[in-house]
Amino acid sequence: MAAQSFPIYISMLLGLLAILSSYGSCSFDTNFSIEEATLKDLQLAFYQNKLTSTQLVEFYLEQVRRFNPILNGIIEVNPDALNQASQADLERKRSSPRSLSPLHGIPVFVKDNIATKDQLNTTAGSFALLGSIVPRDAGVVTKLRKAGAIIFGKASLSEWSDFRSYEQPNGWSARGGQGKNPYTMGEPCGSSSGSAISVAANMVTVSLGTETDGSILCPSTLNSVVGIKPTVGLTSRAGVVPISLRQDTVGPICRTVADAAYVLDAIAGPDRYDNSTIEASKYVPKGGYGQFLKEDGLKGKRIGIVRKLYDFGHDDVFYIGAFEKVFKTLKQGGAILVDNLTINSFHVITGSSSGEWTAVLAEFKISINVYLKQLVASPIRSLSDAIEFNRKNSKLEKLKEYGQELFLEAEATKGIGGAEKAALARLAKLSKEGFERLMIKNKLDAIAAPGRLISHFLAIGGFPGVSVPAGYNPQGLPFGIGFGGLKGFEPRLIEIAYGFEHLTMGRKSPSLGRH
Ligand SMILES: *[C@@H]1O[C@H](CO)[C@@H](O)[C@H](O)[C@H]1NC(C)=O
Ligand SMILES: *[C@@H]1O[C@H](CO)[C@@H](O)[C@H](O)[C@H]1NC(C)=O
Ligand SMILES: *[C@@H]1O[C@H](CO)[C@@H](O)[C@H](O)[C@H]1NC(C)=O
Ligand SMILES: *[C@@H]1O[C@H](CO)[C@@H](O)[C@H](O)[C@H]1NC(C)=O
Repeated sequence: MAAQSFPIYISMLLGLLAILSSYGSCSFDTNFSIEEATLKDLQLAFYQNKLTSTQLVEFYLEQVRRFNPILNGIIEVNPDALNQASQADLERKRSSPRSLSPLHGIPVFVKDNIATKDQLNTTAGSFALLGSIVPRDAGVVTKLRKAGAIIFGKASLSEWSDFRSYEQPNGWSARGGQGKNPYTMGEPCGSSSGSAISVAANMVTVSLGTETDGSILCPSTLNSVVGIKPTVGLTSRAGVVPISLRQDTVGPICRTVADAAYVLDAIAGPDRYDNSTIEASKYVPKGGYGQFLKEDGLKGKRIGIVRKLYDFGHDDVFYIGAFEKVFKTLKQGGAILVDNLTINSFHVITGSSSGEWTAVLAEFKISINVYLKQLVASPIRSLSDAIEFNRKNSKLEKLKEYGQELFLEAEATKGIGGAEKAALARLAKLSKEGFERLMIKNKLDAIAAPGRLISHFLAIGGFPGVSVPAGYNPQGLPFGIGFGGLKGFEPRLIEIAYGFEHLTMGRKSPSLGRH
């Protein structure tokens, strides 16, 4: 049976509720397990009076107390979270359930570069932004609140979304400490490390991350969760500490494809503070993304395989076998694999001479200065202030260990000049004649590849991607399969990802010393 869209599902629940209450049975059931629960599970539990948002938040507060000191996935918990939860519980009692969104009464972490106008700080992990006051909620946070979500706190990240230096470790920030992978206690990847860690370790239901090049797809893969990197402009970047408005995008990180699709429903669409969302709103499907959660979603999909994207160095032996199994599953689900494809200028795009750095360094300086200037108050007002702050607070910001080379290189740029214009033209050409031509020529619905290398191709074109858990290596490190497509391909990527997930159910929760 194809999955129902959410409103139909809720109306089925209502029927069930009517039957239950006609027997006068509405007692609280402690048997319900919150761990690994999906949005549907939680909404069902709410309506069966097995669970309240208050209990849900209390559960996660306890999880954060137990596991965050080890994992460092969260920088701040919202002191207002329990208030928002009891508000949601009241609203649920008063309203007809059909009117509530799948996110109503659900706690969400947002990456610490996403602004919230409340008691939480928005700092991109750096002490330089501690005490800054944002003018308003980020566009995506406004939409989350409108959907009734509880803003539970700020997830940790690679500081400044990995754009301070070449040496800074993935998942480290001065304010958040070193984030850890809950499966291995090692590398969580980044830069949306805490968003992936917190969801993987059941410290929250769902979270938001951001990606400029790989920052949602990579941590999702390594922490065994589902990440959606939307088409650039599908979700608002207003109020997000930026790197490049040409490449930045905000997307969900969740435990299941369905949860990620419902979160995308909540955050996608126009925002008057980010004009790119007006143009990209043509990609938002009528009726939402829930309708694409089809168990047979792989059927008839043309999926391209570019073998060069499967380069794991010395770990090749295990992964080549593992991905052959993935391909078999895709075929089993009815997908048509188009194998042995090549992307024009592959090594230029994945290498250092594509022009991406030239463009992004200049774009970063421009957009970070705009972000800092529009703050109501802030210890720093420009990139040059940030550099100075790090020098003055070198111990706190580990300047000796990690440096700030990217900040310095960006500060040395002088706007979009000749070199930058040439780089931008080169990038556009590489994207058009590379990934885009490959997709169109072969009539592909998606390219399947590990998140790590495919992210460059998606980044420079503003294209979307989805990562789904695909298994664990012999050391217990998770890996995922990514699906990338052209602008606005989210519906078919969600169909493919959901179909694959349905056949594999590959995610296991981390043991964290409990078993
Ligand atoms: C508790 O949950 C288990 C597994 O879902 C189920 O088999 C069992 O019947 C439940 N017990 C009660 C008392 O509801
Ligand atoms: C935000 O930062 C200030 C320090 O500037 C701190 O006092 C406050 O507790 C922080 N907010 C939260 C929610 O942690
Ligand atoms: C968006 O576009 C409108 C109309 O072109 C313009 O007036 C406005 O300043 C733009 N807003 C932003 C945030 O760039
Ligand atoms: C792909 O290339 C390999 C090695 O060159 C070959 O063995 C295989 O048959 C090719 N597969 C397809 C579907 O063309």
